[in-house]
Amino acid sequence: MAELKVEHLEVRYGDLVGVADISLQVEAGQVVALLGSNGAGKTTTLSAIAGLIAPSRGRIAWRGETISGQPAYAIVSKGLALSPEGWRLFVGQTVEQNLRLGATALADRSRQNALFDRVYALFPRLAERRRQPAGTLSGGERQMLALGRALMSEPRLLMLDEPSLGLAPALVETLYDTLAQLHRQGLTLLLAEQSIPLALAIANYAYVLQTGRIALEGPAAELERNEQVREIYLGVRANAGNQAQAR
Ligand SMILES: Nc1ncnc2c1ncn2[C@@H]1O[C@H](COP(=O)(O)OP(=O)(O)O)[C@@H](O)[C@H]1O
Ligand SMILES: [Mg+2]
Repeated sequence: MAELKVEHLEVRYGDLVGVADISLQVEAGQVVALLGSNGAGKTTTLSAIAGLIAPSRGRIAWRGETISGQPAYAIVSKGLALSPEGWRLFVGQTVEQNLRLGATALADRSRQNALFDRVYALFPRLAERRRQPAGTLSGGERQMLALGRALMSEPRLLMLDEPSLGLAPALVETLYDTLAQLHRQGLTLLLAEQSIPLALAIANYAYVLQTGRIALEGPAAELERNEQVREIYLGVRANAGNQAQAR
């Protein structure tokens, strides 16, 4: 059974439509990618699932329970965490204070120290900088901190909104290694990306969004081979060398 089920989600920003009709499912232990170019509706979809914006139509269910309309803090405490686009850190607060905020929704407060240990083991850089304001961190470290903060709520489902955005290629590779490691440890991932080859390499299943609707979906391995995806979304023309190699 699907852990997360989104049915006919519509989200409006006043008169503007953020997403028009999104239906998707995430099963336990899967990595699901949400793909699409700028403005397709990835952030809106993840924000609605996380309870940061209220849907105007449709239903979001988590392990059989309708969660659409519930506030963000209630949703975090059910085991869904979001590492948001642009990180949204408190730049004047230290690394440790930012991480502690991630643990606010923990039902069992005694878990907090174990979670700090886990995040610091995953990102030793954050341990070194625990007393530094988040505003002094590099882009790569800020992404680690946003991810670490999400992990501090001990989620079952981790949602990541464009984690590779603005990171140097070497850092992106390290980040994706970390995501693969978290997945092997049992975490379910819902990953929004514009960088489609990256996301398809780690995902089991993917949805391609276009102007607020699902344009295409399927197993990641199939979408990797799909000509429509390759031409429209992978930008194969800008990457003709790779295409020739792949054939
Ligand atoms: N705060 C907002 N106010 C008005 N329109 C918005 C807002 N956020 C997003 N939108 C619009 O909603 C649509 C989907 O945007 P978004 O979810 O941010 O897409 P993506 O994350 O895929 O780039 C776009 O047309 C965008 O302009
Ligand atoms: Mg976005």
